[in-house]
Amino acid sequence: MTESNGVPADMLNGHARSAPSPDKSPLNGALPGMELGRRYAQIIGWGYHVPEKIITNHDLEQIVETNDEWIRTRTGIEERHIAADPKETSASLAIIAARKALEVADVHPSKIDLIICSTSSPEHIFPATACIVQDAIGATNAGAYDLSAACSGFVYALSMARAQILAGDAEYVLVLGAETLSRMVDWTDRNTCVLFGDGAGALLVAASDVPGGIMSVDLGSDGSGANTLTILGGGSAMPASLETVSTGSHYIRMDGKAVFRFATRVMASATKRVLSRAGLTTDEVDLIIPHQANIRIIQNSVLQQLKIPESKVMINVQKYGNTSTASIPIALCEAIEAGRIKPGDNLVLVGFGAGLTWAACAVKWSVPIEKQAAGWWKNYRRQATYQAAAARSMWRRAVRWVYDVWPNDPEQMPVRPVEPATPLEIPNGTPERVRVEERE
Ligand code: ACO
Repeated sequence: MTESNGVPADMLNGHARSAPSPDKSPLNGALPGMELGRRYAQIIGWGYHVPEKIITNHDLEQIVETNDEWIRTRTGIEERHIAADPKETSASLAIIAARKALEVADVHPSKIDLIICSTSSPEHIFPATACIVQDAIGATNAGAYDLSAACSGFVYALSMARAQILAGDAEYVLVLGAETLSRMVDWTDRNTCVLFGDGAGALLVAASDVPGGIMSVDLGSDGSGANTLTILGGGSAMPASLETVSTGSHYIRMDGKAVFRFATRVMASATKRVLSRAGLTTDEVDLIIPHQANIRIIQNSVLQQLKIPESKVMINVQKYGNTSTASIPIALCEAIEAGRIKPGDNLVLVGFGAGLTWAACAVKWSVPIEKQAAGWWKNYRRQATYQAAAARSMWRRAVRWVYDVWPNDPEQMPVRPVEPATPLEIPNGTPERVRVEERE
């Protein structure tokens, strides 16, 4: 039985539906610890969005002293998408990615229990970017928070989503990775400005009783390397001031070589750990989706150290540069589009980033990829949902505005006489607490 988009209906509300027969499950017995009747966290929706504006290496030659050959050979990057329109922000990119993921899964936004937005370039320190997305997509029943673990953040967020689902606290968690780091880059610093790009990716994770999904995770950090990759200005240790701006403390600063060494080490070790926790060997991996920072890091860690062939590694850094926490979901979506993922495949998502942090997860892909065209009615209903969300948001703002302008200054309000407190009547004798004290 499938929904119109090809997602099995029994994945959309795992505990409410019975598990498929063991004989029919393509995953049956594939991993130790996978049992029918258990709860699993399945990725059922996916989407990404990048700004339209592309900046090539040749464009950068006009801005800083660099050249296409250096950037290509040292990083693998050929071009990147940059949020050139001021209206393009981490939230606006994430909203589009989120809507695409919901469309693929054919899930109404009101069903989402939690939105986690991983970002290092949030709209503001607060409110959380996740809340802005929550409002825009009409996820009226969702909690929402941002998560900060730099480029590793998306896998951290997936791990949190999995934990919420396995604990029974959520049925649907929308995981977002959104960045506009181009706004935090010093466009006169060739060490960093050639590396980064903007974009957002979204995955909808759902509770399911179909074995598979996010099977194991490995999260790690080494704060002794905190100074190797920083944006120091604007935090509580260095509040924004004329001085922080004039010294460029609000820009990304990086010790590229130190980050490179760290990255090549942890990408390989985290992948090994997460595979071992899932009971898999490197030979059983069908596709690795590494953080897209530098092609040499991927070659050194995944290809050379783990000896995984290039055909099993997703690489798109040439098109997008380092989109930080958005890079893994964007690469995952492109792998799906390219037909490189099919049900039953074992995937590893692995990233590293500022902190220093690293994160990996093993995924047993369990959802059909084919997306059937949604009927006009569904498209119409979806658009109506988003318009209703915008109207609801405006209404709530209007109500707040009315409360703001209403003459309810407490000093001018009439003081209500305080009535003497009536003794609490306890119908069935003495309350429990008193009885305990009496026994003592
Ligand atoms: N164009 C031309 N020359 C350059 C450029 C450039 N864009 N950038 C640096 N150079 C020069 C340097 O000045 C240096 O010149 P020098 O020898 O005269 O001093 C020379 O090239 C070599 O510089 P290195 O820093 O040694 O170059 P390296 O091979 O280490 O590559 C790079 C630099 C690409 C930054 C690499 O170290 C790297 O990718 N590191 C990891 C970065 C990363 O992944 N960051 C993750 C961010 S994730 C997050 O959490 C946000």
